[in-house]
Amino acid sequence: MKKTFFGLMVCATLMGACSKSSNSFVPDCSGSTKSFSNDVLPVFQSACVSCHSQYSGYSQISAAKTTIRSKIVDGSMPPGNSLSTAQKNNIVCWIDNGAPNN
Ligand code: HEC
Repeated sequence: MKKTFFGLMVCATLMGACSKSSNSFVPDCSGSTKSFSNDVLPVFQSACVSCHSQYSGYSQISAAKTTIRSKIVDGSMPPGNSLSTAQKNNIVCWIDNGAPNN
C-alpha cells in the first residue's frame, strides 16, 4: 500500500513517466445493457474494495460515479491500470447509461 502510493507520487512528479496513466479510454457500449449487480459490482469487489471499502454498494458507487468514471477513463484507478477492457466497459457504459440500480 505504501509502495503503491509512492509509485503514484513518482508518476505524478515525473509527468509522462507513466504513459499508461495518461491514456484516455474510449468505451465500447455497443453490447448489451450493463447490469449493476451482474457487471459492475463484481468489478468493484475484485478491484476497488480492498482500498475503498466505501465502494461496496449501490448508493456509494452511484453517488461517486462522476469521479469514478474519470479515474477509470484516465487509467489512474485502480493503481497500475489493471482493469481489462471488458471491466472498464462495464463500469463506464453503466455510468453513461445513467447508473441504474439494475
Ligand atoms: C491499491 C489501493 C487502491 C485500489 C485497488 C483502488 N484505489 Fe482508488 N485510490 C487509492 C488511493 C491511495 C487514492 C487517493 C490518492 C489518489 O487520488 O491518487 C485513491 C483515489 C481514488 C479516487 C479519487 C477520489 C477519492 O476518493 O480520493 C477514486 C474515484 C478512486 N480512487 C476510485 C477507484 C476505483 C473505481 C477503483 C477500482 C476500479 C480503485 N479506486 C482502486 C487507492 C486505491
